[in-house]
Amino acid sequence: MSKPHWRHARASDLTAISAIAQRIHPDLPERPEVLAEKMQLCPDGCLALAAGNEIVGYGLSHPWTQHQIPALDGFLEQLPDDADCLYVHDVAMLPDFRGGGAARAYVAAIEGLARSSGITSLALVSVYGTRELWQRLGFRAVTADAKLRRKLDSYGERATYMLRDLTAPRSASLR
Ligand SMILES: CC(C)(COP(=O)(O)OP(=O)(O)OC[C@H]1O[C@@H](n2cnc3c(N)ncnc32)[C@H](O)[C@@H]1OP(=O)(O)O)[C@@H](O)C(=O)NCCC(=O)NCCS
Repeated sequence: MSKPHWRHARASDLTAISAIAQRIHPDLPERPEVLAEKMQLCPDGCLALAAGNEIVGYGLSHPWTQHQIPALDGFLEQLPDDADCLYVHDVAMLPDFRGGGAARAYVAAIEGLARSSGITSLALVSVYGTRELWQRLGFRAVTADAKLRRKLDSYGERATYMLRDLTAPRSASLR
């Protein structure tokens, strides 16, 4: 199989993306149409990791508002006019395709999209103890107020809201 590469996700990738999501996030289920809506609203933020003819991972991001997180399995309806972050809804790779820098490459692509859109931060909810990994990619945990904490709880008790400030000087580990 050829080396995996990121490309824009297509509507025809939805079945594969949804199957990977169900396999990797059995406790955080989302309907395919909820994922499809993100691909429609922000095609430039939604990428598929392709290896030959196979889809082996995906990354879904869209403009959003800092300190707010969309409800799990909920429709966005529309993107905010005054978005101040690109929200990384999810990045997931099949197990055989992890550890090869795909998440780092996805974040670099999203960073480029944010910068070209005049958006100065990236946001995400870290789950499954991935906080340290996201820290390596420049994100910092943010203390959640009671309202945000309640929403985070639907992502599991270890869910952590994290931000990456794109106006901060780059650290050496971010290359
Ligand atoms: C989390 C996930 C997306 C990471 O993807 P990946 O392609 O394996 O990550 P990368 O290879 O790009 O690694 C990114 C950085 O994190 C580091 N890293 C990887 N695993 C780590 C871990 N368990 N703890 C700390 N750092 C870690 C890597 O060393 C790399 O840093 P470096 O480039 O400075 O060496 C992938 O493991 C996955 O699909 N997991 C299941 C779904 C999931 O948890 N998604 C995240 C939801 S918030």
